Amino acid sequence: MMKLVYTLDDLESRTTLDAGAGKPARLAVLGWPVAHSASPQMHQPVLDAAGIDARYIRLEVEPGLIAKAFTRMRELGFIGCNVTVPHKTDALANCTWVHPDALVLGAVNTVNFEGESIRGYNTDGPGFASAIEDDFGLPLGAHSIAIAGAGGGAGQAIAVQCVLAGVKRLVLVNRTEEKLGPLVDRLMALGLGTEIIPVTFGSVALAELCRSCDLIVNTSSVGLKAGDPSILTEICLRPEHMVYDTIYQPPVTPLLASAGVLGCRCSNGLSMLLHQGALAFQHWFPQSQPLAVMRAALTQCG
Ligand code: ATR
Repeated sequence: MMKLVYTLDDLESRTTLDAGAGKPARLAVLGWPVAHSASPQMHQPVLDAAGIDARYIRLEVEPGLIAKAFTRMRELGFIGCNVTVPHKTDALANCTWVHPDALVLGAVNTVNFEGESIRGYNTDGPGFASAIEDDFGLPLGAHSIAIAGAGGGAGQAIAVQCVLAGVKRLVLVNRTEEKLGPLVDRLMALGLGTEIIPVTFGSVALAELCRSCDLIVNTSSVGLKAGDPSILTEICLRPEHMVYDTIYQPPVTPLLASAGVLGCRCSNGLSMLLHQGALAFQHWFPQSQPLAVMRAALTQCG
């Protein structure tokens, strides 16, 4: 029987893995937990539309067992995989080759199995850049940006991507001040000339700094849970702002709701999910154009 979630035990043999399935499992998303992942709903329709004889599965992998999963998948002839929380750093450590940008971002979310080699990429950062350009019509590097929740995993990766894209001014907002120093050092070490300004939510300078930017991005988890407040108070926002929330469930977070009332242009994390997925697919199938089919599939399951 086809399962919602597979485990490492299911990778024991091809026969076990593919029991009851029409197509062989050749791609997967690895996470812990992973049952909530929308990746199969995005990737399978593209595989089907292209007539590729492959199934995309969810694979639950305990922390620390990424190396074992990679070895087994390679033996079974997997094309590649996506890697999600909490495995992105471990995945990087277990690749035989890592793309330079993924090294700088410190995380791998896409893997290609090619013979003996395990090649690691990061499409979260470039996926964010594509989402911003698609949603707001300007390349990421053209903006001055404030990131709320910059100290978290997603925030740090997006901050690095902003610097790589040549953003002029980057305001890094975080609750815990101690996380800002090391992040600033990491970003400065890239030596790319972005003006980097760290600030905490309690600072009197916060509103003015946010207002000095044109794009506000929430990378914190505030807004995920019912009853959460907006990560930034209205005084930080102005109608000319573009506001992006990396959260897509709920589709309208309290931040996006208050920004919408002010008249800001708003978008949520669904576009980032879409673009990181399309870029991952193109690492596995370099000539493919998966975006339109993926977009339609995501709209349907959303
Ligand atoms: P990660 O594992 O990626 O670090 P996380 O713990 O969910 O994820 O935190 C992500 C971001 O949300 C962090 O920037 C976190 O701020 P701290 O660095 O101060 O922990 C931010 N965050 C979570 N809850 C918050 C809250 N109630 N107010 C402000 N920021 C919050």
